[in-house]
Amino acid sequence: MERQPVLYLVASGASPARELPGVVAELAGQWDICVITTREGSRFFDVGEMAELTGHPVRTSFKDPDAPDVLPPADAFAAVPATFNTVNKWAAGISDTLALGLLNEAVGLGRPIVTVPWPNAPLARHPAFGRSILMLRECGISVIYDPGSIPDDSKPGQATFPWEMFRAELARIRAGLQGELPVRRGLRQDGGMSESRFGMTELEDLPDDLRERVGEIAARSGFVPNIFRALGHRPAELRAFLDYHDALMDKTDGLSKAERELVVVATSAANFCTYCIVAHGAILRIRAKDPILADQVAANPWQVELDGRRRAIVDLALALVRTPEYFGDTDIAAARDAGLTDDEIWDVGAITALFAASNRLAHLTALQPNAEFYPMGR
Ligand SMILES: Cc1cc2nc3c(=O)[nH]c(=O)nc-3n(C[C@H](O)[C@H](O)[C@H](O)COP(=O)(O)O)c2cc1C
Repeated sequence: MERQPVLYLVASGASPARELPGVVAELAGQWDICVITTREGSRFFDVGEMAELTGHPVRTSFKDPDAPDVLPPADAFAAVPATFNTVNKWAAGISDTLALGLLNEAVGLGRPIVTVPWPNAPLARHPAFGRSILMLRECGISVIYDPGSIPDDSKPGQATFPWEMFRAELARIRAGLQGELPVRRGLRQDGGMSESRFGMTELEDLPDDLRERVGEIAARSGFVPNIFRALGHRPAELRAFLDYHDALMDKTDGLSKAERELVVVATSAANFCTYCIVAHGAILRIRAKDPILADQVAANPWQVELDGRRRAIVDLALALVRTPEYFGDTDIAAARDAGLTDDEIWDVGAITALFAASNRLAHLTALQPNAEFYPMGR
């Protein structure tokens, strides 16, 4: 491509918009950038300075019907940063600002789009937000979003805007425009996972009850975990799996939620199940509020340093998963000596058993984790 590809950079009213002039200056050699901003977004940077930097007027409102276009047509779009407000309106197809109108058109035109949503933690917990992220991803938009890195008053210092990932995604899009890489991964792209050997069943193709159930999980996490797409191959078995899963993992007495995930990660490591290690490693980081534990357990559950109770839980689970032929009263006695009740011992055993099934199904289907799991809770 002789000319530089045109990037419409759409800003909305979140603090990282203050850094856009620096980012634009840096990208100027690779893209012909046109900045469009919401009214709130324009409060965070000097619009005149931005126009000088880009060589194009910064647009905020719709043009008069007869006025000519002042910007060249876009090859790609970046909605960065994207506020809670703009993300939800975009996902709902609302076009009450020029910024949203262009972003909605970009979806319909099938142009490559990257966005970095930037709500704070309480806003991100609003159920509409998870659904919006899911919807944008289903539209084929590349959504860079890690709930562990957004602003959270209860975790000062956690917020890190992913400028590096944004630059990398723009480079990928640019290579795509030059024919070096696929530009769009197609509808329902999910960050480069491989398909199941037996095909993936999408949410809309599941029976009603499962669509609702898996849809709720997807709305909470912002994506459909691949295990449900793979097990959707046999809806009756997916239903049974979810029932057993919920009975065990949502149980409120006995093991804590973090301890339950500890059993899953330790036994999945012993069973060499990449999907379950990565997916439940992410959940363990979040439940245990510990960014290190899951990786250490996954690397070597036998040797990882744990307190007495956690060690007893992991030892019991490992004995059952790896040497069931020798499993016996000695293992149960060791768990009781460490203070585990019989109810907790059953929890450990049942979780080990259920996830052994899950581990083997992941092997059977060659299931790979969704890319979104890796950065979660770090
Ligand atoms: C100083 C300041 C910082 C803000 N930071 C954020 C933010 O990080 N994320 C967010 O979603 N909204 C943030 N807001 C609120 C939005 O600007 C507000 O919801 C606005 O209505 C968004 O409109 P827009 O989506 O059209 O830009 C901030 C507002 C102010 C005044």
